[in-house]
Amino acid sequence: MEWGMANRLARTIKPDGKCFYLAVDHGYFQGPTHRLENPGQTAEPLLKYVDAVFMPRGSIRASLNPNIDTPIILRVSGGNSMVGEDLANEEVTNSIEDIIRINASAVGISVYVGSQYEHQTIMALSKLVNDCYDYSIPVMAVTAVGREEEKKSARYLALACRVCAEQGAAVVKTYYCEDFEKVVRGCPVPIVIAGGPKTENDLEVMQFVYDGIQQGAIGVNLGRNIWQNDSPEGMARALQAIIHENFTPKEAFGLYEEMKNNS
Ligand code: R5P
Repeated sequence: MEWGMANRLARTIKPDGKCFYLAVDHGYFQGPTHRLENPGQTAEPLLKYVDAVFMPRGSIRASLNPNIDTPIILRVSGGNSMVGEDLANEEVTNSIEDIIRINASAVGISVYVGSQYEHQTIMALSKLVNDCYDYSIPVMAVTAVGREEEKKSARYLALACRVCAEQGAAVVKTYYCEDFEKVVRGCPVPIVIAGGPKTENDLEVMQFVYDGIQQGAIGVNLGRNIWQNDSPEGMARALQAIIHENFTPKEAFGLYEEMKNNS
């Protein structure tokens, strides 16, 4: 593997083979999401717990301190919105020059397998891999379902992950689901799990992250369940302990409560 690619992967996947990405990209299609009104302010206290931050260029340039050490995974797809016709209608939004200019350690793109825009988004992934690999920049493919929540089955996600891996994604981000091992088994590249809407119960988040790791995910790309929590730092620290320090959900919950009560 080219040195630059190996170096970027090593910055975003730690020596234990695991990773913890903070997702703060929601504004690119959701607008000013609750607690993400100022994304830099939301992200900065959490950066010490995570291995990379997933953000679009607008948030980075407008609100993130360029002195941070945390690697950037640049969200490079868009062209849709919550109030538009179809969430799947995405394309690549950044030129390769802009990806390099921002010093991205990796890029992330959504792919909508099975949607009306399947071909467009798979080909966008494919072209992005061609452009980024010329400069040793790894690509994270996001298996996106838009509003079609019912698609989150092992059968569908295994198909979507494999399609993304075959186009050259270095890492695939997908949802945790029942029979998640099947998804991992069919995907030749590492998988990270996404979060979803804020859950009622904090332990639930720790449990699904723990289960996902046990079943073969190398880490997570999580947003709302961290920064919409009453103790974002407590949740980030608890998840870091599960991902990198082999904490059980119960042990991590203890850590979370301690931090929450002391804040
Ligand atoms: C998906 O691509 C989104 O833009 C987020 O990056 C992803 O859903 C993870 O965030 P959350 O844990 O809030 O779902």
